[in-house]
Amino acid sequence: ATETFDSRNIRIKLVLLGDSGVGKSCIVLRFVRGQFDPSSKVTVGASFLSQTIALQDSTTVKFEIWDTAGQERYASLAPLYYRGAAAAVVVYDITSPDSFQRAQFWVKELQKHGSPGIVMALVGNKADLHESREVTSEDAQAYAESNGMFFIETSAKTADNVNQLFEEIAKRLP
Ligand code: GTP
Ligand code: MG
Repeated sequence: ATETFDSRNIRIKLVLLGDSGVGKSCIVLRFVRGQFDPSSKVTVGASFLSQTIALQDSTTVKFEIWDTAGQERYASLAPLYYRGAAAAVVVYDITSPDSFQRAQFWVKELQKHGSPGIVMALVGNKADLHESREVTSEDAQAYAESNGMFFIETSAKTADNVNQLFEEIAKRLP
């Protein structure tokens, strides 16, 4: 989980979970490389990337990111990736109520089997597609609050709120 090398450098394991196609890999690519790939391939198993950010108080946080595969056939592998994670990002697509349902499944699984004290974020991605929105911010915010998570809407396409997501997680680490 969280390892402190000195008071100003921390390293954390973070896992992304959520339905296939919600944009987990695109969020990570945006955060780590500043890019967006409109023809992103489905993830097989999981992929690993890392990125370090500096906070305002000059703490550095190295995120070791496990980007899991959302396709149902990989669901049984998820515990390998969330075990020991200090933070979890549960992603849905604001145009897909099914993906919001799936996000709630992952939240319950993390509550049962995740690390005690895990920092959890609920992320409504594809916020740029607001004209096709089918999950309201209010519903998602209420769900997040009642489950002790923080909520943010992002767009991996426009980069809106992607860095903020990781900064908010860093601030909430114990
Ligand atoms: P799995 O690996 O199968 O679990 O899917 P995933 O959640 O990693 O989805 P991925 O990041 O591969 O994104 C799927 C597709 O959604 C991408 O190819 C993009 O076309 C699209 N997409 C991702 N993020 C956004 C976004 O913020 N806005 C829009 N408009 N499209 C997005
Ligand atoms: Mg993926």
